[in-house]
Amino acid sequence: MIRKIGVLCSGGDSPGMNAAIRSVTRVALNRGIEVVGIRNGYKGLIEKNFVPFGKTSVSEILARGGTILGSARLPEFKNEEVVKKAADILREAKIDALVVIGGDGSYKGANALTKQGINCIGLPGTIDNDISGTDYTIGFDTALNTIVECVDKLRDTSSSHHRCSVVEVMGNHCGDLAVFAGISCGAEIVITPETGYDEEMIMEKLAHLDNAGKNHAIVIISEKITDVAALASKISTNTGFAGRATVLGHIQRGGSPSPSDRLLASRMGEKAVDLLIEGVGGHCIGIVDNEITSMPIEEALQTPRKPKKAFYRLFNSLV
Ligand code: F6P
Repeated sequence: MIRKIGVLCSGGDSPGMNAAIRSVTRVALNRGIEVVGIRNGYKGLIEKNFVPFGKTSVSEILARGGTILGSARLPEFKNEEVVKKAADILREAKIDALVVIGGDGSYKGANALTKQGINCIGLPGTIDNDISGTDYTIGFDTALNTIVECVDKLRDTSSSHHRCSVVEVMGNHCGDLAVFAGISCGAEIVITPETGYDEEMIMEKLAHLDNAGKNHAIVIISEKITDVAALASKISTNTGFAGRATVLGHIQRGGSPSPSDRLLASRMGEKAVDLLIEGVGGHCIGIVDNEITSMPIEEALQTPRKPKKAFYRLFNSLV
Protein backbone atom coordinates (compact mmCIF):
# COMPACT_ATOMS: atom_id res chain seq x y z
CA MET A 1 0.00 0.00 0.00
CA ILE A 2 1.34 3.45 -0.84
CA ARG A 3 0.83 6.45 1.42
CA LYS A 4 3.04 9.07 -0.14
CA ILE A 5 4.23 9.68 -3.72
CA GLY A 6 6.74 12.09 -5.19
CA VAL A 7 6.53 13.87 -8.53
CA LEU A 8 9.40 15.37 -10.49
CA CYS A 9 10.21 16.72 -13.96
CA SER A 10 13.45 15.84 -15.68
CA GLY A 11 15.18 16.73 -18.95
CA GLY A 12 14.04 19.54 -21.25
CA ASP A 13 10.77 21.11 -20.11
CA SER A 14 7.65 20.89 -22.23
CA PRO A 15 4.29 22.69 -22.20
CA GLY A 16 1.83 20.52 -20.30
CA MET A 17 4.26 19.40 -17.61
CA ASN A 18 2.35 21.57 -15.14
CA ALA A 19 -0.93 19.99 -16.18
CA ALA A 20 0.67 16.60 -15.50
CA ILE A 21 1.95 17.70 -12.07
CA ARG A 22 -1.51 19.01 -11.25
CA SER A 23 -3.20 15.81 -12.36
CA VAL A 24 -0.83 13.53 -10.43
CA THR A 25 -1.25 15.70 -7.33
CA ARG A 26 -5.01 16.09 -7.41
CA VAL A 27 -5.72 12.46 -8.37
CA ALA A 28 -3.41 11.16 -5.63
CA LEU A 29 -4.84 13.47 -2.95
CA ASN A 30 -8.37 12.47 -3.98
CA ARG A 31 -7.35 8.82 -3.56
CA GLY A 32 -6.04 9.54 -0.02
CA ILE A 33 -2.33 9.60 -0.93
CA GLU A 34 0.07 12.35 0.19
CA VAL A 35 2.09 14.13 -2.49
CA VAL A 36 5.56 15.65 -2.43
CA GLY A 37 6.85 17.83 -5.26
CA ILE A 38 10.55 17.34 -5.97
CA ARG A 39 12.27 20.42 -7.38
CA ASN A 40 14.83 20.32 -10.21
CA GLY A 41 14.57 16.69 -11.25
CA TYR A 42 16.89 13.95 -10.00
CA LYS A 43 19.35 16.65 -8.90
CA GLY A 44 16.73 18.00 -6.47
CA LEU A 45 15.99 14.48 -5.31
CA ILE A 46 19.63 13.95 -4.29
CA GLU A 47 19.60 17.40 -2.64
CA LYS A 48 16.31 16.56 -0.83
CA ASN A 49 14.66 19.56 -2.42
CA PHE A 50 11.15 18.48 -1.44
CA VAL A 51 7.95 20.48 -1.07
CA PRO A 52 4.74 19.00 0.37
CA PHE A 53 1.87 19.47 -2.07
CA GLY A 54 -1.77 20.19 -1.18
CA LYS A 55 -4.54 20.72 -3.70
CA THR A 56 -3.91 24.47 -3.84
CA SER A 57 -0.18 23.97 -4.47
CA VAL A 58 -1.18 23.13 -8.03
CA SER A 59 -3.86 25.80 -8.46
CA GLU A 60 -3.55 28.20 -11.40
CA ILE A 61 -0.85 26.20 -13.18
CA LEU A 62 -2.92 24.34 -15.78
CA ALA A 63 -2.51 27.08 -18.38
CA ARG A 64 1.15 27.79 -17.61
CA GLY A 65 4.01 26.54 -19.77
CA GLY A 66 7.29 25.28 -18.30
CA THR A 67 7.23 23.45 -14.99
CA ILE A 68 6.64 24.92 -11.54
CA LEU A 69 8.94 22.22 -10.17
CA GLY A 70 11.87 23.15 -12.38
CA SER A 71 13.73 20.56 -14.40
CA ALA A 72 17.34 19.48 -14.74
CA ARG A 73 19.54 16.93 -16.43
CA LEU A 74 21.74 14.87 -14.07
CA PRO A 75 24.16 12.68 -16.08
CA GLU A 76 25.49 11.18 -12.79
CA PHE A 77 22.13 9.46 -12.36
CA LYS A 78 23.48 6.76 -14.72
CA ASN A 79 25.74 5.72 -11.82
CA GLU A 80 24.20 2.94 -9.68
CA GLU A 81 25.59 4.41 -6.45
CA VAL A 82 23.76 7.68 -7.12
CA VAL A 83 20.51 5.81 -7.82
CA LYS A 84 20.91 3.81 -4.58
CA LYS A 85 21.45 7.04 -2.67
CA ALA A 86 18.29 8.50 -4.26
CA ALA A 87 16.29 5.40 -3.26
CA ASP A 88 17.57 5.71 0.33
CA ILE A 89 16.63 9.39 0.42
CA LEU A 90 13.11 8.55 -0.78
CA ARG A 91 12.75 5.78 1.83
CA GLU A 92 14.00 8.15 4.55
CA ALA A 93 11.36 10.71 3.46
CA LYS A 94 8.76 7.91 3.45
CA ILE A 95 8.06 8.50 -0.22
CA ASP A 96 6.86 5.10 -1.45
CA ALA A 97 6.68 5.75 -5.19
CA LEU A 98 7.51 8.35 -7.81
CA VAL A 99 6.05 9.83 -10.99
CA VAL A 100 8.76 11.06 -13.36
CA ILE A 101 7.75 13.44 -16.15
CA GLY A 102 10.33 13.67 -18.92
CA GLY A 103 11.94 12.06 -21.94
CA ASP A 104 13.77 8.81 -22.45
CA GLY A 105 16.79 9.85 -20.34
CA SER A 106 14.39 10.46 -17.45
CA TYR A 107 12.79 7.05 -18.09
CA LYS A 108 16.16 5.33 -17.62
CA GLY A 109 16.45 6.93 -14.17
CA ALA A 110 12.89 5.90 -13.29
CA ASN A 111 13.63 2.33 -14.30
CA ALA A 112 16.86 2.24 -12.32
CA LEU A 113 15.06 3.58 -9.22
CA THR A 114 12.33 0.95 -9.60
CA LYS A 115 15.07 -1.70 -9.56
CA GLN A 116 16.23 -0.21 -6.24
CA GLY A 117 12.79 -0.82 -4.75
CA ILE A 118 10.99 2.48 -5.42
CA ASN A 119 8.15 2.01 -7.90
CA CYS A 120 8.31 4.69 -10.57
CA ILE A 121 6.01 5.55 -13.46
CA GLY A 122 7.22 7.64 -16.40
CA LEU A 123 5.08 10.22 -18.18
CA PRO A 124 6.32 11.28 -21.64
CA GLY A 125 7.01 15.00 -21.23
CA THR A 126 8.94 16.27 -24.25
CA ILE A 127 8.15 18.35 -27.32
CA ASP A 128 10.15 15.90 -29.48
CA ASN A 129 7.54 13.11 -29.77
CA ASP A 130 10.46 10.71 -29.79
CA ILE A 131 9.30 8.14 -27.23
CA SER A 132 8.23 4.62 -28.15
CA GLY A 133 4.98 3.27 -26.78
CA THR A 134 3.02 6.46 -27.26
CA ASP A 135 1.52 8.14 -30.30
CA TYR A 136 2.06 11.56 -28.73
CA THR A 137 4.15 13.10 -25.95
CA ILE A 138 3.07 15.91 -23.64
CA GLY A 139 4.11 19.22 -25.23
CA PHE A 140 4.34 18.07 -28.84
CA ASP A 141 1.00 19.57 -29.86
CA THR A 142 1.77 22.96 -28.26
CA ALA A 143 5.22 23.10 -29.87
CA LEU A 144 3.64 22.22 -33.21
CA ASN A 145 1.14 25.06 -32.77
CA THR A 146 4.00 27.47 -32.03
CA ILE A 147 5.89 26.35 -35.13
CA VAL A 148 2.81 26.70 -37.33
CA GLU A 149 2.13 30.21 -36.01
CA CYS A 150 5.73 31.24 -36.72
CA VAL A 151 5.91 29.67 -40.18
CA ASP A 152 2.60 31.29 -41.20
CA LYS A 153 4.21 34.63 -40.37
CA LEU A 154 7.39 33.78 -42.25
CA ARG A 155 5.31 32.86 -45.27
CA ASP A 156 3.78 36.38 -45.34
CA THR A 157 7.14 38.07 -45.50
CA SER A 158 8.87 35.57 -47.81
CA SER A 159 6.09 35.79 -50.36
CA SER A 160 6.48 39.58 -50.40
CA HIS A 161 10.17 39.27 -51.33
CA HIS A 162 10.43 36.20 -53.54
CA ARG A 163 12.31 34.44 -50.78
CA CYS A 164 12.79 30.93 -49.53
CA SER A 165 12.55 30.62 -45.75
CA VAL A 166 14.58 27.83 -44.25
CA VAL A 167 13.09 27.13 -40.82
CA GLU A 168 14.95 24.96 -38.33
CA VAL A 169 12.76 23.23 -35.78
CA MET A 170 13.59 21.13 -32.72
CA GLY A 171 12.96 17.42 -32.29
CA ASN A 172 16.36 16.13 -31.24
CA HIS A 173 16.77 13.12 -33.60
CA CYS A 174 13.08 12.82 -34.44
CA GLY A 175 11.47 14.46 -37.47
CA ASP A 176 7.87 14.50 -36.20
CA LEU A 177 7.76 18.23 -35.40
CA ALA A 178 9.14 19.00 -38.87
CA VAL A 179 6.88 16.73 -40.90
CA PHE A 180 3.72 17.57 -38.92
CA ALA A 181 4.56 21.27 -39.33
CA GLY A 182 5.32 20.75 -43.01
CA ILE A 183 1.85 19.34 -43.58
CA SER A 184 0.15 21.94 -41.39
CA CYS A 185 1.96 24.91 -42.95
CA GLY A 186 1.98 23.71 -46.55
CA ALA A 187 5.78 23.76 -46.71
CA GLU A 188 7.43 22.99 -50.02
CA ILE A 189 10.24 20.83 -48.59
CA VAL A 190 10.68 18.95 -45.31
CA ILE A 191 14.08 17.62 -44.26
CA THR A 192 14.36 15.33 -41.24
CA PRO A 193 16.61 12.56 -39.95
CA GLU A 194 14.06 10.22 -41.59
CA THR A 195 14.23 11.84 -45.06
CA GLY A 196 18.00 12.29 -45.06
CA TYR A 197 19.81 15.35 -46.44
CA ASP A 198 20.29 15.74 -50.18
CA GLU A 199 21.41 19.29 -51.02
CA GLU A 200 21.34 18.76 -54.76
CA MET A 201 17.74 17.61 -54.60
CA ILE A 202 16.79 20.67 -52.50
CA MET A 203 18.34 23.05 -55.07
CA GLU A 204 16.68 21.23 -57.96
CA LYS A 205 13.26 21.31 -56.34
CA LEU A 206 13.54 25.00 -55.49
CA ALA A 207 14.79 25.93 -58.97
CA HIS A 208 11.88 23.98 -60.42
CA LEU A 209 9.38 25.81 -58.16
CA ASP A 210 10.89 29.16 -59.13
CA ASN A 211 10.68 28.31 -62.83
CA ALA A 212 7.08 27.18 -62.36
CA GLY A 213 6.25 30.71 -61.12
CA LYS A 214 6.11 30.08 -57.38
CA ASN A 215 6.57 33.32 -55.45
CA HIS A 216 8.09 31.92 -52.27
CA ALA A 217 9.08 28.64 -50.66
CA ILE A 218 9.24 27.24 -47.15
CA VAL A 219 11.78 24.59 -46.20
CA ILE A 220 11.27 23.06 -42.76
CA ILE A 221 14.32 21.26 -41.48
CA SER A 222 14.95 19.36 -38.25
CA GLU A 223 17.75 20.58 -36.00
CA LYS A 224 21.15 18.83 -35.94
CA ILE A 225 21.17 18.20 -39.71
CA THR A 226 23.04 21.11 -41.25
CA ASP A 227 23.98 24.76 -40.82
CA VAL A 228 20.77 26.45 -41.95
CA ALA A 229 22.42 29.84 -42.56
CA ALA A 230 24.84 28.16 -44.98
CA LEU A 231 21.95 26.33 -46.65
CA ALA A 232 20.02 29.60 -47.08
CA SER A 233 23.06 31.20 -48.63
CA LYS A 234 23.46 28.29 -51.10
CA ILE A 235 19.77 28.68 -52.01
CA SER A 236 20.45 32.34 -52.87
CA THR A 237 23.39 31.35 -55.05
CA ASN A 238 21.81 28.36 -56.82
CA THR A 239 18.13 29.19 -57.24
CA GLY A 240 16.00 32.20 -58.15
CA PHE A 241 14.93 32.60 -54.51
CA ALA A 242 16.76 34.66 -51.91
CA GLY A 243 17.33 32.32 -48.98
CA ARG A 244 16.76 33.36 -45.37
CA ALA A 245 17.29 31.13 -42.34
CA THR A 246 15.29 31.18 -39.11
CA VAL A 247 16.15 29.01 -36.13
CA LEU A 248 13.04 28.84 -33.97
CA GLY A 249 14.98 27.50 -30.98
CA HIS A 250 13.63 27.44 -27.45
CA ILE A 251 10.57 29.51 -28.31
CA GLN A 252 9.15 26.10 -29.30
CA ARG A 253 9.40 24.87 -25.72
CA GLY A 254 7.45 27.71 -24.13
CA GLY A 255 3.90 28.95 -24.05
CA SER A 256 0.57 27.96 -22.61
CA PRO A 257 -0.17 24.29 -23.34
CA SER A 258 -2.84 23.57 -25.94
CA PRO A 259 -6.11 22.00 -24.73
CA SER A 260 -4.96 18.78 -26.34
CA ASP A 261 -1.74 18.74 -24.25
CA ARG A 262 -3.68 19.66 -21.09
CA LEU A 263 -6.05 16.75 -21.68
CA LEU A 264 -3.26 14.35 -22.50
CA ALA A 265 -1.28 15.31 -19.40
CA SER A 266 -4.36 15.08 -17.16
CA ARG A 267 -5.30 11.64 -18.52
CA MET A 268 -1.76 10.33 -18.23
CA GLY A 269 -1.34 11.69 -14.70
CA GLU A 270 -4.44 9.83 -13.55
CA LYS A 271 -3.22 6.58 -15.08
CA ALA A 272 0.19 6.96 -13.42
CA VAL A 273 -1.34 7.28 -9.95
CA ASP A 274 -3.73 4.40 -10.53
CA LEU A 275 -0.86 2.13 -11.59
CA LEU A 276 1.16 3.04 -8.50
CA ILE A 277 -1.86 2.25 -6.32
CA GLU A 278 -2.04 -1.18 -8.03
CA GLY A 279 1.60 -1.70 -7.08
CA VAL A 280 2.98 -1.34 -10.61
CA GLY A 281 6.42 0.20 -11.10
CA GLY A 282 8.88 0.58 -13.97
CA HIS A 283 6.14 1.37 -16.46
CA CYS A 284 5.61 4.35 -18.72
CA ILE A 285 2.34 5.81 -19.89
CA GLY A 286 1.32 6.27 -23.50
CA ILE A 287 -1.60 7.17 -25.67
CA VAL A 288 -2.27 4.69 -28.46
CA ASP A 289 -5.29 5.16 -30.73
CA ASN A 290 -6.62 7.65 -28.16
CA GLU A 291 -6.55 5.07 -25.34
CA ILE A 292 -4.29 5.65 -22.34
CA THR A 293 -1.93 2.69 -22.09
CA SER A 294 1.17 1.60 -20.23
CA MET A 295 4.15 -0.64 -20.91
CA PRO A 296 7.38 -1.55 -19.14
CA ILE A 297 9.94 1.25 -19.49
CA GLU A 298 12.54 -1.30 -20.59
CA GLU A 299 10.30 -2.36 -23.48
CA ALA A 300 9.70 1.27 -24.51
CA LEU A 301 13.42 2.02 -24.42
CA GLN A 302 14.26 -1.03 -26.54
CA THR A 303 11.46 -0.67 -29.08
CA PRO A 304 12.38 1.47 -32.08
CA ARG A 305 9.94 4.29 -32.75
CA LYS A 306 7.37 3.46 -35.41
CA PRO A 307 8.31 5.40 -38.56
CA LYS A 308 5.66 7.97 -39.49
CA LYS A 309 5.49 6.70 -43.08
CA ALA A 310 1.87 7.76 -43.58
CA PHE A 311 2.71 11.36 -42.66
CA TYR A 312 5.67 11.51 -45.06
CA ARG A 313 3.52 9.98 -47.79
CA LEU A 314 0.82 12.57 -47.11
CA PHE A 315 3.35 15.41 -47.18
CA ASN A 316 4.68 14.22 -50.52
CA SER A 317 1.16 13.92 -51.90
CA LEU A 318 0.38 17.52 -50.97
CA VAL A 319 3.32 19.33 -52.58
O1 F6P B 1 14.43 17.31 -25.86
C1 F6P B 1 13.88 18.58 -25.97
C2 F6P B 1 14.81 19.52 -26.66
O2 F6P B 1 14.17 20.77 -26.76
C3 F6P B 1 15.28 19.07 -28.05
O3 F6P B 1 14.33 19.31 -29.03
C4 F6P B 1 16.55 19.89 -28.20
O4 F6P B 1 17.44 19.25 -29.05
C5 F6P B 1 17.08 19.96 -26.80
O5 F6P B 1 15.99 19.68 -25.93
C6 F6P B 1 17.66 21.29 -26.42
O6 F6P B 1 18.23 21.18 -25.16
P1 F6P B 1 18.67 22.40 -24.24
O7 F6P B 1 17.42 23.04 -23.71
O8 F6P B 1 19.48 21.78 -23.18
O9 F6P B 1 19.41 23.36 -25.13
